[in-house]
Amino acid sequence: MGHLLKETLEIYLRSHIDVNNQALEKLEKEAEEQHIAIIKREVGQLLNVLVKIKRPERVLEIGTAIGYSTLWMAMELKQWGGGITTIERHPRRYERAKEVFGQEQVSAFVKPLLGDAGDIVPKLEGNYDLIFVDAAKGQYLNWFPYLRKLLNPGGILVADNVLCRGLVLPDTQFPRRKKTMVKRLRQYLKEIQKPPFTSVVLPLGDGVAISILQEESH
Ligand SMILES: C[S@@+](CC[C@H](N)C(=O)[O-])C[C@H]1O[C@@H](n2cnc3c(N)ncnc32)[C@H](O)[C@@H]1O
Repeated sequence: MGHLLKETLEIYLRSHIDVNNQALEKLEKEAEEQHIAIIKREVGQLLNVLVKIKRPERVLEIGTAIGYSTLWMAMELKQWGGGITTIERHPRRYERAKEVFGQEQVSAFVKPLLGDAGDIVPKLEGNYDLIFVDAAKGQYLNWFPYLRKLLNPGGILVADNVLCRGLVLPDTQFPRRKKTMVKRLRQYLKEIQKPPFTSVVLPLGDGVAISILQEESH
């Protein structure tokens, strides 16, 4: 599909998504004004649908930013008392996200953690039904063994930006400084296709990988 057609289709499909939530719309504007990368609206809708299907009790998110994606999930989770632990290393974003969770009355369901996921994830305890990774792409592969252990059987692992604007394609030219990141991302895409995972990669936003851990995997 041509680049322009993909973009036109995305805009068309996005126009059908009524977020119906002032806080989400406000955060979209805030992120745009401050040049903070957040998930596309359709990826938010995807998370919301996954949460509705899976009805997770415990969710882990890596990459809170200002709480936009967290809110997409928390709005659903709070209906059955589920909770999200979300990790952010940028202090100002962490503080802003905490403020948002308070304003939107989801603080009781969200546990924001400030720090580097590389330090925090190996120390996490308990298991999660859904994990959403949306942080440093070059780290997904390093975090993968920990995330696998943290997932409950039947749990879902979602990773955003896995296509990295097409850089993962073979024979693509990219700057030298991106070499390691692209190599790791390609490897991540291979790892999630191996048992005990079954995965699908959707060309939504910048590519979303959805992986489900086999039920009898522990
Ligand atoms: C794309 S943004 C997350 C957007 C958010 N998920 C949303 O859609 O609303 C990525 C965030 O991950 C954070 N981040 C990147 N690497 C991280 C790491 N190793 N540990 C914790 N946070 C990290 C960045 O500071 C940034 O705010």
